[in-house]
Amino acid sequence: MFGKLKNYQVSGGRVTFEFEGSDGLKPCVEVITDTIFNVFVDYDGLGHRSRAIEEGFGEQAVFGQLPQKEAETEVKKEGSAVVIRSKKVTAKVNDGFAVDFYDREGNPLSLAWRGERKEKTGLSERELAMLAGEGHAISGKTKEIRAEERRSLDREDCIYGLGDKTGFLNKRHYEYVMWNSDIPDPHEDNFKSLYKSIPFMLVLKQKGVYGIFFDNHCKSFFDLGKESEDYYVFGAEEGNLDYYFIGGDSLKDVISDYTAMTGRAPMQQLWTLGYHQSRWGYESEEKIREVAEGLRRNNLPCDCIHFDIDYMDNYKVFTWNKETYQDEKKVISDLKDMGIKAVTIIDPGVKVEKDYYVYEEGVAQDFFARDTEGDIYVNAVWPGDAVFPDFGNPKVRHWWAEKQKYLIDLGVSGVWNDMNEPASFRGPLPDDVVFTDEDRPAPHSQIHNIYGHNMAKSTYEGWKEYAGKRPFVITRACYSGSQKYTTAWTGDNHSIWSHIRMMIPQICNLGMSGMNFVGADVGGFGSDATPELFARWIQAGCFMPLFRDHCALGGRRQEPWQFGEEVLAISKKYMDLRYELLPYLYDLMHETEMTGIPMVRPLVLEYEADENVRNRNDEFMLGDRMLIAPVVEQGARERMVYLPEGIWYDYWTGERREGGSFFVKEAPLDVCPVYVKAGAVIPKYPVRLHVGEDKDDLLILEAYPGEGTYGHYQDNGQDFGYRQGEFNEYKISNRNGEVTVEKQHQGYRDYGKIEVVRRFFG
Ligand code: GLC
Repeated sequence: MFGKLKNYQVSGGRVTFEFEGSDGLKPCVEVITDTIFNVFVDYDGLGHRSRAIEEGFGEQAVFGQLPQKEAETEVKKEGSAVVIRSKKVTAKVNDGFAVDFYDREGNPLSLAWRGERKEKTGLSERELAMLAGEGHAISGKTKEIRAEERRSLDREDCIYGLGDKTGFLNKRHYEYVMWNSDIPDPHEDNFKSLYKSIPFMLVLKQKGVYGIFFDNHCKSFFDLGKESEDYYVFGAEEGNLDYYFIGGDSLKDVISDYTAMTGRAPMQQLWTLGYHQSRWGYESEEKIREVAEGLRRNNLPCDCIHFDIDYMDNYKVFTWNKETYQDEKKVISDLKDMGIKAVTIIDPGVKVEKDYYVYEEGVAQDFFARDTEGDIYVNAVWPGDAVFPDFGNPKVRHWWAEKQKYLIDLGVSGVWNDMNEPASFRGPLPDDVVFTDEDRPAPHSQIHNIYGHNMAKSTYEGWKEYAGKRPFVITRACYSGSQKYTTAWTGDNHSIWSHIRMMIPQICNLGMSGMNFVGADVGGFGSDATPELFARWIQAGCFMPLFRDHCALGGRRQEPWQFGEEVLAISKKYMDLRYELLPYLYDLMHETEMTGIPMVRPLVLEYEADENVRNRNDEFMLGDRMLIAPVVEQGARERMVYLPEGIWYDYWTGERREGGSFFVKEAPLDVCPVYVKAGAVIPKYPVRLHVGEDKDDLLILEAYPGEGTYGHYQDNGQDFGYRQGEFNEYKISNRNGEVTVEKQHQGYRDYGKIEVVRRFFG
């Protein structure tokens, strides 16, 4: 549609173009920072309208290092192209609005694809699925794609990110649809959509790396080299072509830039790093108490029990079931006395019921979505007929934020937002159901992917305002930028081996997409866990940011003591390890807030030049110094492990290994292979039953042979005081077991005692 380049205008870092045949559209390229360029075509005339990037591109969204915003820019005509240079990236804008990006040495990073798209052959998967009667499982293209971008692929390019998509770490050769979807069938690697839409991808080249953030929250499509080896395509049915090209020296740089724009996952309260026990089906006060007692009887550490929909009166949000609970406040406070906090589920669907206060308030204030006739739109969720709060309306968010007081007053400690794609049982919400997008009405098709985001934002704001602590919100659906407000879990997985395998790349890619604090239901949600699967899952799950055992009503119970003595002992071993690692996990969470780099990382994030790790799906790193290689095969009592360059120590045996090769590691049922880098220091706490348990305020520094330094962070683990300087920072040096601790910032009380433990020295 864009022909020859006719004209261009420069205003600050923004260059606006005119092309032949461009129908009055004036596409532009804007230099945002030295490494971030925005490419924009305003098809709908509404401007950027980002829901991921918020006001100020800073302060409110990010409490860490921000890239320099005032980038020096040089714009000149070279031949028929307009060349836009920042200090680090060059964009050449050619006829047809073909935009090519180069690094500072002039090497191509990402070139526009100038050819046509390949002819479609055969049936599309959607058509095939329809023929087989399974059309519901695929959210395919339904309308014309308007905003579309085609870019070249090189043979070696690997693609990461894109949120929670199923399958493998490297997304190349697959096709995805961004349309938040609750699909009850076991998630397979050919799924195109899942609960979350994060249209951000990282491309790792043979030489060089870059990111693309397609900031369009309508239904969007990514074909990442499935249609052709030579190019990838992304586009959307509605909204604008609005993407950010992020150039950088490493994958980490790109993630830092992306999270500087969309926000960084903030520090959570320390207890949220503890073990969470959950199940759909703890139907009464007695059941909840029995579970809490079971945890303590078995001497298992735990910080929180999740209350699934069972606690509500007829699944009405912000109510409690008085038949199954005598006194919910007392239950919550009794749990607290045991060191166990309560997290309650809240779904968006509000039951249609006369005199139910949430419904009545929402109706009176016009807070629910309407159909095109102007009637309140009704679908069905757990409570039967239900209506949908219009979270895109700031007033609705404010109202919902106030509703949180009900839970806060009862002593609840966090909220689990579910079903917020939004899910609906009586067919999907029609595209034209009328919601609000901040200051204008918007059809469902344009707010669907940000529905969960807005709900989480409102929940976060309520808790921030009324609870005075760092809000703990967990969500199922989200969009880019949701990490500012909420943690997440990966939804309804199953107790099947393919899903423990899937967890690793899924959480790694979520982390690289900004969503740091995430976890999969340990043991699997649907189907029935076997003792072996549960043992392997808790071993791997204990290294994930959110460590929650959760399963479905009707399935096999899944508390760690349900599988016999051996599995109980294994569970305890790894739950204890989790509690020992709390200060290490907390340090990593702090690093995420400062830099955007996630706690759980694929090996490629630390060793991007190593070709052996570009497709490594069954190992991951916790920070930069611990490598976890869980067993994810039924019956396996050994597995192949790859260690990248350097010297590594087997965490359990102390065996020293030189990296750079594969080897077979024995792994009986109680062993999850873990390796620690030479010279590492790992901070630990003594084992405890919950984070608040007093253990002499002791910090243990575990030093491994070799040399290295480590930054340790400490604060009150609860509120936002750290943002006013109430924290301590330590620089710890390890010279082959000789450990020195230097205080770098003092704003919080000291540890009672710091003890050095030398591991595996001769
Ligand atoms: C959804 C959630 C699941 C929850 C269930 C009942 O399926 O994903 O975690 O247990 O609803 O609330």
